[in-house]
Amino acid sequence: MQALKGFRDFFPTEMSRRSHIFEAWRRVTRRFGFAEFDGPPVEYLELYTKKSGDEIVRQLYNFQDKGGRNIALRPEMTPTLARMIASRAGNLPKPIKWFSIPQLFRYEEKQRGRLREHFQLNVDIVGTRAVEADVELLAVALEIQRELGLGKEDVLARVNDRRVVAGILKALEVSENKFPAVYTAIDKFRKAPQETVRTLLANAGVPASAVSELCDLCSGTVSVFDWYRQHPSADAVSRKAAETLETYLSLLAEYELDELVEVDFSIVRGLAYYTGIVFELYDRKGKERAICGGGRYDDLIATMGGPAMPALGFGMGDVVLTLMLNDRGLFPEERSRVDVLVIPVGPELFGAARKITQTLRLSNISSETPYKPAGVGKDLRAANQFGARFAIIVGPEEWKDNMVILKDLQSSEQKCVTLDKLCDLLIKIDR
Ligand code: HAM
Repeated sequence: MQALKGFRDFFPTEMSRRSHIFEAWRRVTRRFGFAEFDGPPVEYLELYTKKSGDEIVRQLYNFQDKGGRNIALRPEMTPTLARMIASRAGNLPKPIKWFSIPQLFRYEEKQRGRLREHFQLNVDIVGTRAVEADVELLAVALEIQRELGLGKEDVLARVNDRRVVAGILKALEVSENKFPAVYTAIDKFRKAPQETVRTLLANAGVPASAVSELCDLCSGTVSVFDWYRQHPSADAVSRKAAETLETYLSLLAEYELDELVEVDFSIVRGLAYYTGIVFELYDRKGKERAICGGGRYDDLIATMGGPAMPALGFGMGDVVLTLMLNDRGLFPEERSRVDVLVIPVGPELFGAARKITQTLRLSNISSETPYKPAGVGKDLRAANQFGARFAIIVGPEEWKDNMVILKDLQSSEQKCVTLDKLCDLLIKIDR
């Protein structure tokens, strides 16, 4: 039997890589003042059909449970977060800063960087309209890259604002009911050939002259800010949004992150609920799919029955990050199973070896001793093989004097140590 297509087995090597990423996620988000939460891995189907958008709904793992309820495995965390916040909104001090690392399920075509399950760090801020929160959010995402060893030559953040796009679409006389289809077409700009995008835009009801204008904005031939300067009569809300986007960029410079950030009109995000500044992080070499994506979704909590509460957040998957860290040799060496192997010389010393092992464990030193006699040479080879740092050899002569031999397996140096000094010594040594 094999694992299902698009699902992974995590053998210890893969598991240690996954832990490396999770630990960096937790360290950085906590450093920025976020608290961890979780929710159920299955939810009512309706939670997603309400507001996630067509693409996610098409990819749902949904079924009827034995009670006849229509339910789905969670394909994303944001609806759960919005539902949870909506249920307690009044009691939570604002701004709410939460993170979570759920496993998510999407019935997608398996491809490099996209599977049918993945783990996704979600970082969200609720209860503030301050652009400073948008800046902090992107700073968290970028700080995680740095923590994992990925620098400005590896990662690029592409940012945009849905309101800016909406203002330009209005000025180009695209009717508002066509916006979702136009967003889907724009979202494909860097993923599909230009002709496909042009066809999608035309099919979405964008006038022929406007198709080229939108493509120029997407490719960066025309900057969003220049466009607004050239169209002084553009809608006031979107003009304000373009100004906020400029403030956002200047605040990012305060974090010294401006070198990592680029305005990109083609970033509109595939999900339906975004309302303001949006962003995605990319492999600068262009080899991988998006590392991370998010933005403002100021209306979603009200849709879930909560009060009107502005919110913003991002999701960062483990799959693309794993590919990038692997490619660049940035995963640390796998940790050995134990630091110390206690080797008895002869069957009569097995009991003593077990006792020593237990004493070490109680002092927080990871250690083990063989179950059955194999011979000192064989045990030492095994210790070297699984990367133990020390061997403790319990020999009959030394044991008589309450002593053991402590062997450093890196330098091969060894010395006799009294039992009462053993733990202190090992705790002091950097294992
Ligand atoms: P998303 O863009 O659908 O956003 O996913 C965010 C990230 O999750 C992607 O950039 C990618 O790294 C990873 N990801 C998504 N689908 C897959 C897949 N099939 N296989 C591997 N990795 C994948 C959201 O899910 C939003 N709910 C994020 C968010 C949080 N927005 C606000 N708060």
